[in-house]
Amino acid sequence: MRTQVGIVGAGPAGLVLAHLLHLHGIESVIVEDRSREYCEHRIRAGVLEQGTADLLIETGVGERLLGERLLHHGIELRFEGRTHRVDFADLTGHAVTVYGQHEVVKDLIAARLAAGLPILFETAALGVEAIDGPAPRIRIRGPDGRDDAIDCDFVAGCDGFRGVCRAAVPAGAITAYERVYPYAWLGILAEAPPSSDELIYTSHERGFALLSMRSPELSRLYIQVSPEDDIAAWPDARIWEEMHRRFAAPEEGWSLTEGPILQKGITAMRSFVAEPMRFGRLFLAGDAAHIVPPTGAKGMNLAVADVRVLARALDAFYGRGRTDLLNAYSEACLRRVWRVQHFSWWMTQMLHRDPAGNPFDRRRQLAELEGVVASRAVAQALAENYVGLPFE
Ligand code: PHB
Repeated sequence: MRTQVGIVGAGPAGLVLAHLLHLHGIESVIVEDRSREYCEHRIRAGVLEQGTADLLIETGVGERLLGERLLHHGIELRFEGRTHRVDFADLTGHAVTVYGQHEVVKDLIAARLAAGLPILFETAALGVEAIDGPAPRIRIRGPDGRDDAIDCDFVAGCDGFRGVCRAAVPAGAITAYERVYPYAWLGILAEAPPSSDELIYTSHERGFALLSMRSPELSRLYIQVSPEDDIAAWPDARIWEEMHRRFAAPEEGWSLTEGPILQKGITAMRSFVAEPMRFGRLFLAGDAAHIVPPTGAKGMNLAVADVRVLARALDAFYGRGRTDLLNAYSEACLRRVWRVQHFSWWMTQMLHRDPAGNPFDRRRQLAELEGVVASRAVAQALAENYVGLPFE
């Protein structure tokens, strides 16, 4: 098999890249380990920066998004039992879109298949070879167990944190920067109308809590737990009890609506960056190159930002024989990646309970939150990052 760009992974990074390349007239093949069904139902994040939503709309895959999305013009910060709104519209003129990542994935898969373009589902990438030369190759194993290969001009590693692409870079050629946090998120999807029109980020002395949503009928809620926690130790009643405690705002007449829990799970949190994001003809994008803790809602947005840079660079290469944008790929992406790393870390440390912290740390944290709501300048910094940094 031969193509121009071999893409490993059918998450947001791989699918958006394939879509943009197609619009530029560049051929690609996507290889995906999992089934279509799995990809379309994998519950992940749900907040799209304005630029991410605009890109999907402008490139023709935003029809369902426009009909079903929830536009949010702000978020709420809750601490010490009181709620403070951060007004994105006022502070930045922009908004964010609440629309599940798996819905974005569904729309992109549908568009690609409708155009008759290839996604090889249930096909494992066994490894990538010859990435330091002009003719890289992806070795694959199909659903029938037969081995094959895809010869290409470039490989896009969109295969996540544990994928084979980053692992193909020689150890001395890549540097990893990492921080693992002493907390995790227990997330639930509940069949309950959201108890708020906007997301509520709560810092409570028992730990962080977040109220989000997927639709007018579905709530998505998270609470901070220990990374050692086992989901079996969290029966539904215990989860609700803990949520009621953390979201409590007794003077505001607010209450949390419960409903049947449809899904639950615990996710560890880390910050990670691999540098550079390119080795020879292999380009890493999305979680294959970097991970952010979910507090800033940036994972999917950063993946889309990477492939936007990559698609433009590949277009310059195929259309005009230019290699300068390909050479600048890593540096261009990493500037944004590190800004977003800082924002995600900042939100995370400001809102979570540090198990090794002492009362001084808690008071300092509350002062930091006070600073956000008391100062327009600080609130604006939060808002600008949350709605998304501009594209260069
Ligand atoms: C979500 O809706 O899943 C969500 C929202 C905001 C976050 C993280 C996750 O910061």
